[in-house]
Amino acid sequence: MRPYTIIFSAETLDGKLASKSGYTRIGCEGELRELHLMRASCDAVMVGANTAVQDDPRLNVRYASGRSPLRVILDPNLRVPPTARAFSVPGKGVIITLGKWGEERLEEHRRRGVIVIRAGEERLDLYKAMESLYELGVRRLLVEGGGRLNCSLLSEGLADEVRVTIAPYVFGAGVSFAHCEEGELRVELALREVRELCPGWVHLVYHVIRPRKGLAGPPGFEPGTSGSEGRRSGPS
Ligand SMILES: NC(=O)c1ccc[n+]([C@@H]2O[C@H](COP(=O)([O-])OP(=O)(O)OC[C@H]3O[C@@H](n4cnc5c(N)ncnc54)[C@H](OP(=O)(O)O)[C@@H]3O)[C@@H](O)[C@H]2O)c1
Repeated sequence: MRPYTIIFSAETLDGKLASKSGYTRIGCEGELRELHLMRASCDAVMVGANTAVQDDPRLNVRYASGRSPLRVILDPNLRVPPTARAFSVPGKGVIITLGKWGEERLEEHRRRGVIVIRAGEERLDLYKAMESLYELGVRRLLVEGGGRLNCSLLSEGLADEVRVTIAPYVFGAGVSFAHCEEGELRVELALREVRELCPGWVHLVYHVIRPRKGLAGPPGFEPGTSGSEGRRSGPS
């Protein structure tokens, strides 16, 4: 089993999460509130190693009321320092990494109360990662990018819902919403909701209708019955 998984992003009209030079300030206040409501409605929030290194997000709930979820960083190559802000609360930070790293490489993480998940020996096994999160009690997972992580979840059939805010900007180049380094995606989505979060910022909620391969989601969390009430740019 795996968690019901929601990808949440703010992107430009041309589908960029960040410009080529790394500029990401494309959110608005309403979008930030929406993101934090979504965090509060989930058991864990996850980002890829690049986002963690570049933005050092806290991944907690600040602009809405509610409980802060677990903060998960997918970091196969241990590039994110144990001092990352997402790991600042003992027992709340989770690192998903490779089995090949000896305990000594993770000693500082453990000392800081970071939960260590090993998924795959030499290559990250995303299915195993999702199963391990489920075993940890994560039933609803919010994924806040970046584009490479979004691509891998979509291509492996591990995403159930996509929530994007289209910001009124065009970057022309940069990191795409689903940034696939090889191959291509053919994922079909069903539009469920359209809302303006701030004048000019349009929020779209989609369910992923294909592919549905891979691990089953938990009972009662099928697309369309997520019960999500949650209504930001990149993680902060
Ligand atoms: N506008 C928004 O809403 C938003 C949201 C999030 C991020 N961002 C921006 O997006 C940019 C970062 O995005 P990104 O696409 O470059 O990176 P990313 O998805 O944040 O991180 C990619 C890295 O995470 C690890 N990873 C992800 N998926 C993996 C998988 N399936 N298997 C193994 N490893 C995996 C790999 O680390 P290794 O390279 O170590 O193997 C990979 O290079 C930043 O500029 C950030 O500010 C914007």
